Amino acid sequence: MLQRVLHRLQTTRVSLPTTEPSPSSSLLTPNIRTDERRRTNAPLSTLLSAILLPGALLALSLLTLVYLLPSAQDTLEPGKGKGDWKHRNGSNVDVFERFWISTKEPGTGREAKAAFIALGATMTDFLLTPSPSASPIDLVLGYENTTSYLTAEQNAYFGAVVGRYANRIANASFTDPSTGETFHLPPDERGKTTLHGGTSGYSRAGWKVRERTGDRVVFSLRDEGAEGFPGTVITTVTYTLLHSPIRLRTQFFSRVLPSNSSSSSAARTPIMLSSHTYWNLDGFQRDLGGKGGKGGAEEHEVWVQAEKRVEVDDDLVPTGRLISIPPESACDFYSSSASSSSPPAQATTLGERLKMDEMRGLCGPGCTGLDTAFVLSRPEREVETDVVMRMQSRASGIRMDIRTNQPLIHLFSSSTFSPTSSHGFPRKPSHLPAGELTEEERYYPRYGALAIEQEGWIDAVHHAEEWGVDPFYSPERPYSWWSEYEFSQLD
Ligand SMILES: *[C@@H]1O[C@H](CO)[C@@H](O)[C@H](O)[C@H]1NC(C)=O
Ligand SMILES: *[C@@H]1O[C@H](CO)[C@@H](O)[C@H](O)[C@H]1NC(C)=O
Ligand SMILES: *[C@@H]1O[C@H](CO)[C@@H](O)[C@H](O)[C@H]1NC(C)=O
Ligand SMILES: *[C@@H]1O[C@H](CO)[C@@H](O)[C@H](O)[C@H]1NC(C)=O
Repeated sequence: MLQRVLHRLQTTRVSLPTTEPSPSSSLLTPNIRTDERRRTNAPLSTLLSAILLPGALLALSLLTLVYLLPSAQDTLEPGKGKGDWKHRNGSNVDVFERFWISTKEPGTGREAKAAFIALGATMTDFLLTPSPSASPIDLVLGYENTTSYLTAEQNAYFGAVVGRYANRIANASFTDPSTGETFHLPPDERGKTTLHGGTSGYSRAGWKVRERTGDRVVFSLRDEGAEGFPGTVITTVTYTLLHSPIRLRTQFFSRVLPSNSSSSSAARTPIMLSSHTYWNLDGFQRDLGGKGGKGGAEEHEVWVQAEKRVEVDDDLVPTGRLISIPPESACDFYSSSASSSSPPAQATTLGERLKMDEMRGLCGPGCTGLDTAFVLSRPEREVETDVVMRMQSRASGIRMDIRTNQPLIHLFSSSTFSPTSSHGFPRKPSHLPAGELTEEERYYPRYGALAIEQEGWIDAVHHAEEWGVDPFYSPERPYSWWSEYEFSQLD
């Protein structure tokens, strides 16, 4: 079956849409922040956006609904049964073909280039050139051969958009409290839990390219209840590269279509998306001169504005408890830093934390490392301006600051990576150490990168009441996610 799908995906080549921005495409995603230069922390702008944003979002949502109403060319491959690949190819392009967007900072010569494929609306490469004389450093993990994004036995979700419901759903099922109806999903993780939306979640769907310009790409996916989720959801994903300073802005916007059936009262579905990018700010460049450094993410300094984390059981599904993180403990990425409300100049490295006892078992029985959701503690009104996470490397001098509208940040320290096993992932050529290599060195090492997933309340379909959150979306309640990654250079 896989062969057939692959063949079909490969034999149908469709040229990319025009690179001219289409006039209506800006309606696809609400432009959370339209100004090119970064906003200041001015209280006035915060206040204005607090008032204006909801109104603007509502207006855009209505326009988006009109624009996105089903049209013939949106029709996807028909389904093949339960847990099928109903939404796998909604694409209008060769889903394995890499294409690039780029930006350049005037004056400094700093550059960023990002590559994407339509499978999973995936960011496959992110090249940062810190200065005109430096070589580009590839900051994200991925595959050389893009067909691996679909065929790799173990899905690492490298750089993909994960959905319809990111992270785990306990017992691979949930019940809509308003109707009492229970929905069963594929138990794609250990036959027990549903991870990242099921066997063929959004990470392995063929997304349509709606718009492509020099510094921006917009993908869309129409999901007609694939993997057992209720209702039809249309999602757009926008990646934009900005300069001064260099930033990557990632935006998701989902709309639930009204239900056709008169029997069911409303179209309601849980939605939780995330970007599953693995970052290594050295791009394994330290290895290039010799075999000294392991080149992993252990030397990265990490700061996260979180005082609580979500407690999970052995299946890594939430127990319902939110744990206060004790100061100076392994998960205290926040208060152990000099100043807690804004990111510090220096922070504890990931490696120092991995050595601490509490890290044992944190990513599951027998696993040392992070597979952990941190609850951000910043006040709601500062969502737009606050940096909630900083990661930096002394080796490359690259600093990455993250802003997001999401309440949680999930960190996965690539703890299960195991070279040459079924959990082994071959490095991209840009990430290969120089010189003669052992078989093992051709693979990404354990702790080779930190996957950073800004997201909603994980498994909230089972803990909505305890946490006072509503994971269900409807035609009246669109879903919106954005994150911004800002890159600067340490002195
Ligand atoms: C995906 O399906 C659409 C609609 O049937 C078709 O137009 C397109 O060529 C297909 N793309 C690929 C890469 O197979
Ligand atoms: C990528 O992998 C596919 C499937 O294994 C193979 O057919 C193809 O030739 C490979 N492409 C390259 C460029 O190596
Ligand atoms: C999952 O199933 C087990 C066994 O039936 C049950 O004890 C547990 O409460 C369920 N978890 C959730 C979150 O519903
Ligand atoms: C409702 O029915 C129309 C016509 O059959 C179809 O095009 C549309 O996709 C359906 N909407 C949903 C949400 O399934």
